[in-house]
Amino acid sequence: MSVEPLIVAESISKNFRVSRRTLRAVQRVSFSLQAGETLGLVGESGSGKSTLGRLCLRLLEADEGSVRVGGQDLAKLSPKALREKRKEMQFVFQDPMASLNPRMTVGKAVSDALRIHGIGTKQERLNRVEELFTRVGLSPEIIDVFPFELSGGQQQRVGIARALALRPKLIVCDEPISALDVSIQVQIIELLRDLQKEMNLGYIFISHNLGVVQYLSDYVMVLYLGEVVEYASADDLFEHPSHPYTKVLIESILSVPSSDAGRRELIAIPGEVPSPLSPPSGCPFHPRCKEATDHCRQEKPLLREIASRHQVSCHLYA
Ligand SMILES: Nc1ncnc2c1ncn2[C@@H]1O[C@H](COP(=O)(O)OP(=O)(O)O)[C@@H](O)[C@H]1O
Ligand code: SF4
Ligand SMILES: [Mg+2]
Repeated sequence: MSVEPLIVAESISKNFRVSRRTLRAVQRVSFSLQAGETLGLVGESGSGKSTLGRLCLRLLEADEGSVRVGGQDLAKLSPKALREKRKEMQFVFQDPMASLNPRMTVGKAVSDALRIHGIGTKQERLNRVEELFTRVGLSPEIIDVFPFELSGGQQQRVGIARALALRPKLIVCDEPISALDVSIQVQIIELLRDLQKEMNLGYIFISHNLGVVQYLSDYVMVLYLGEVVEYASADDLFEHPSHPYTKVLIESILSVPSSDAGRRELIAIPGEVPSPLSPPSGCPFHPRCKEATDHCRQEKPLLREIASRHQVSCHLYA
């Protein structure tokens, strides 16, 4: 018997209207993920990672396609059912300070998540907040302090405690470590990993640190101008990167010694990212691709399966 996936995205797309033009932020993205698994999303800035993360939790409405979480199509839920469903789906933001209300104590920020959903008495909520703080490595003594009194790492732990308060099944972590010092990044990654194992959480993990994506992910999706260029298991993707863009991304981090894998940030790769308002003809990567041919300039490649659960969008694999 097959297990119902935690999340299934089927051909989801999102356009924005910008200066009376259409910006295709996410185009026909599909994937599925089981409970306890992590999907890593990588790609340069503007490739659609955050938009995709938001679509997965219906924080944004998709223009096309569907997202099912626990077998339920999010677009078909009534407002009441969606509110209930939201307990299962949480978001951890890049900038913990910006995601916390500066005038609310951090304890209240976490207990409010429970109060809004009518969970527990005041005392029960306080007990739960203390339990959550302890679990994420914060002293319950700081419950009554304000966010600005905490370090970036502590603020992010509060953000994680708040995400966990409602016992979610799926968490989108949108660059959760990029605002933190490297030593703190490692601690937060270990915390996320431990919590995942303990609670069988599914993660959609967005990061420009490919070392961390490799470490945490079961599957990795590489996005370019809103489209999937490669999607594979993390082992396959890092051992056999196939799309020329993925290859450049991975080559760009190999100059960092493996002993320093935590610093394997996605660095600038040659060539400019084209404007998403006027994407190149044919293969969107062709202006930066060393292997581009006339065929690439004229015809857009389709995303094809080149091995089991390994998809690539490139004419070299047609
Ligand atoms: N609300 C919005 N209105 C208009 N354009 C947007 C909006 N949100 C994102 N975009 C555009 O969509 C594209 C993808 O953005 P985003 O998902 O934030 O990328 P990433 O997270 O990979 O940096 C970018 O070109 C961005 O400028
Ligand atoms: S389709 Fe052509 S231009 Fe695009 S990535 Fe493949 S080889 Fe390069
Ligand atoms: Mg983003």
